Amino acid sequence: MRKEQFICPYVVYDNLDEMESQDAELLRCAHEATANSYAPYSKFHVGAAVRMANGEIVTGNNIENAAYPSGLCAERVTLFAAMAKYPGMPILALAVVAHSETKTIAEPAAPCGACRQVMVEVEQSSKRPLRILCQGETGPIMAFDDIESLMPFVFQRSLL
Ligand code: THU
Repeated sequence: MRKEQFICPYVVYDNLDEMESQDAELLRCAHEATANSYAPYSKFHVGAAVRMANGEIVTGNNIENAAYPSGLCAERVTLFAAMAKYPGMPILALAVVAHSETKTIAEPAAPCGACRQVMVEVEQSSKRPLRILCQGETGPIMAFDDIESLMPFVFQRSLL
């Protein structure tokens, strides 16, 4: 028997001014994308932006539905849109931010488990690390160099 632990390394930035310009730009795009969010039920507007290997930025947002599970998170809307627009092109970074109509979100909005599972496949299929940046409407930014840091013990497609 042995005890083990998982270490989750990440960097915290106090604001966009501390960040590399490419990361700050991606976060700004994600903030802008919250304006397109369709969230009449939760009033929680999530925006996301990805940077492709060709330098293009693709944005997306959460889309809800009266049949609640039919809606989709901003991260998956954005990743799937990017994969549809640029099939096979590596996705190098993803920024996700959350604004709420009911309160100010001042802490990073970490992606849900289902979106992390999709991010793992994006990273594994491209063989390039997927940098992940998370922020609320204001406040600090958390930056992860890759999805493996955020998603230990992921379901591995090699098992299939
Ligand atoms: N949501 C996202 O878009 N991303 C996440 O990582 C978590 C939650 C959306 C789904 C739903 O439209 C709203 O936020 C409230 O859960």
